[in-house]
Amino acid sequence: MLINSDILTEFSNLIAENKSNSFEGELKTGVDLGTANIVVSVVDANNNPIAGATYPSTVVKDGIVVDFVGAINIVKNLKAKVEEIIGRELLTAATAIPPGIISGNVKCISNVVEAAGFEVINVVDEPTAAARVIDIKDGAVVDVGGGTTGISILKDGQVIFTADEATGGTHMTLVLAGYYGISIREAEELKKDPKKDKDIFPIIKPVVQKMASIVKRYLNGYDVSEIYVVGGASSFEEFNDVFEKEIGIKTIKFNEPLLVTPLGIAMNCNRG
Ligand SMILES: Nc1ncnc2c1ncn2[C@@H]1O[C@H](COP(=O)(O)OP(=O)(O)OP(=O)(O)O)[C@@H](O)[C@H]1O
Ligand SMILES: [Mg+2]
Repeated sequence: MLINSDILTEFSNLIAENKSNSFEGELKTGVDLGTANIVVSVVDANNNPIAGATYPSTVVKDGIVVDFVGAINIVKNLKAKVEEIIGRELLTAATAIPPGIISGNVKCISNVVEAAGFEVINVVDEPTAAARVIDIKDGAVVDVGGGTTGISILKDGQVIFTADEATGGTHMTLVLAGYYGISIREAEELKKDPKKDKDIFPIIKPVVQKMASIVKRYLNGYDVSEIYVVGGASSFEEFNDVFEKEIGIKTIKFNEPLLVTPLGIAMNCNRG
């Protein structure tokens, strides 16, 4: 099942058009340091999207910052860009960590955001951020990003289980590169072309089936009636159908899967 969320469409349009919604009062900012994309998101006190900016990342690998100076510069530039769009300085931010990350790396991530000029007032885990946008209290959130797939189970609004597995969009790209005998860069472009979805999905389907079998193993023993898939690598039209078939649990996907977690981080920008 695909849910077309108006708030995600609106946020995506603001980013694409470098525009801001009108606002008054306090603003909340989120910084997502992803393996594939870095996103700065801004919402108002009622969690309406106000503005955002995104930049492809090579500075974070699977939740670990591998290029500090590069990461700081990207966040600084995105901060400046969004500040120019909205005409106001952004002082505080929330950021997020993948599930299961060790505490030293948490500090690294918030250090980058601080060095870019924000006061970090909250560090949330990614699935909690995503759950805020999709407005759920129960179920499993599976965030299929570039380098990793985060799995979390929520019950009564609390995260009761998390895991992180080293599989994601990068693996799909590698499979395509091998299959067609093309470079990784070419395979990445091919993969993200919606017009090629039907041609390439059969080739990467085994990767999706493998992801589903990993998720199924983690969900074993928990009472989960719905799975919500987010993250860029869940963009394929049939992605959720494969999950549903492999796992046997209703799987729901969103338009703009890349933006769910980033928007949710901004919504969580409250002093803890
Ligand atoms: N239209 C698309 N079709 C297929 N895959 C896509 C599409 N758009 C983006 N992706 C893939 O999604 C992944 C990036 O997703 P996302 O931005 O959620 O990851 P990230 O948050 O940066 O990474 P991580 O969460 O692993 O740190 C990349 O592998 C990218 O190739
Ligand atoms: Mg991510």
